[in-house]
Amino acid sequence: GKKLTISSIKKQKGVKPLVMITAYDALFAKLFENSADMILVGDSLNMSFAGKSDTISATLDQMIYHTNAVCNGAKDTFVVCDMPFGTYLNKKEALKNATKVFQNTPADCVKIEGGKDKAEVIKHLTTNGIAVCGHIGLLPQSVRSEGGYKVKGKSEEEKEQLLKDAKAVEKAGAFCMVIEGTKADVAKEIAESVSIPVIGIGAGADVDGQVLVFSDMLGFFEEFTPKFVKKYLDGATLVKDAVAQYADEVEKKEFPKEEHTY
Ligand code: KIV
Ligand code: NA
Repeated sequence: GKKLTISSIKKQKGVKPLVMITAYDALFAKLFENSADMILVGDSLNMSFAGKSDTISATLDQMIYHTNAVCNGAKDTFVVCDMPFGTYLNKKEALKNATKVFQNTPADCVKIEGGKDKAEVIKHLTTNGIAVCGHIGLLPQSVRSEGGYKVKGKSEEEKEQLLKDAKAVEKAGAFCMVIEGTKADVAKEIAESVSIPVIGIGAGADVDGQVLVFSDMLGFFEEFTPKFVKKYLDGATLVKDAVAQYADEVEKKEFPKEEHTY
């Protein structure tokens, strides 16, 4: 397909749900390219790729490295690069760091966690030529300060805050936003309250698109499957069985055969 643009993504709201998936390398990015509208180089790579327990320690240089890998693999796909923890604390830092991403990768936009509290930062980036995808609801970069991952929108107060966040992110110039870990009825109301696409993860069906972490939805991550993940492939079993067969054949000297030999 043809690579989406900021304006074609905005126009897709209400027309066709947006399909987003994470990728951290060229190999998988290329495999996703035909089906995904947008590929997210999420700071979830710190968990999925690097094996850490949260996203906090991902660095800007790592995001740049993986974003280049993904862009190399998926040259015709819109790519979103997550700004990692601590790299957008204020307008100046955010612009400096997002500029580094834009100067060193072909990413199409950056993604920033936060609502009303990040509106100034988002505005500063968007007015300086850096497209921003917002991220509201459950914010994984706040896991330590919040003491865990907590579903949002359970109280009237939280719902009102999320509505304010969504409107502030839109007003600041974001062209779309992710909403994570939020009650479906609240996410629906939020999607209806803004004119930019709201892409959900663990936020129900009544939003403008969905995003999943690829290693979760392809079943490569075995330790834990969150409720919102559907496993489209039993990747772990497929990989383990294949490697076990390889090991078996090496041990029995059944591999390599004549056809694999010079
Ligand atoms: O890092 C990531 O993969 C994300 C998605 C969960 C939206 O931010
Ligand atoms: Na992220």
